[in-house]
Amino acid sequence: MTQLRPLFSFPLLILVAACATGEARDADGGQPSDGAPASHDAHALHASGDVAAGAAGEATATLAASPARTGADALPRALVYKTPSCGCCTLWVDHMREAGFEVDARNLNDIIPIKIDAGVPPRMSSCHTTLIDGYVVEGHIPAEHVKRLLEERPDVVGIAVPGMPIGSPGMEGIGARPYQVLSWDRAGNVEVYAEVDPRR
Ligand code: CU
Ligand code: CU
Repeated sequence: MTQLRPLFSFPLLILVAACATGEARDADGGQPSDGAPASHDAHALHASGDVAAGAAGEATATLAASPARTGADALPRALVYKTPSCGCCTLWVDHMREAGFEVDARNLNDIIPIKIDAGVPPRMSSCHTTLIDGYVVEGHIPAEHVKRLLEERPDVVGIAVPGMPIGSPGMEGIGARPYQVLSWDRAGNVEVYAEVDPRR
């Protein structure tokens, strides 16, 4: 009786397993994981829920209270939740810093409660979750699209690059292929926010 909870099931577990190895391959390519233990996070779904929800709530309040931006040199602070062993998450944080964002990267052994609290739809899930200026930014999104989100301020909850496509920032590697940045709103409407071809 080890039924996975329906909310976050197989695809995310593969992601978590792939991310924990620090490998940048096949996370969303349909190839089976090589047996890395992947059940930990689902089983611990509620273990740190209260703590995590509290942290996220604080974070949201802090971000909401941050002053309005005045220009390109005043990008809002990005609060990134990641797991300690995730190499690709760290590379994405580097990518964001290089793009000019101030990043507060926090490690949690279980980030699924953060995703639930932030309202990330399971099919949008990736390996790390970022809260920035009232938006949720899920996964390996190119910094330029995060900047565009903050400029345009569309009526969405957030944007996501589901899975961990090869060629996205922090997931560089052989076999890069086009992927989409998706947005979702409070009603659950999903739209394509950007088409990205990392080969160009
Ligand atoms: Cu990743
Ligand atoms: Cu990550």
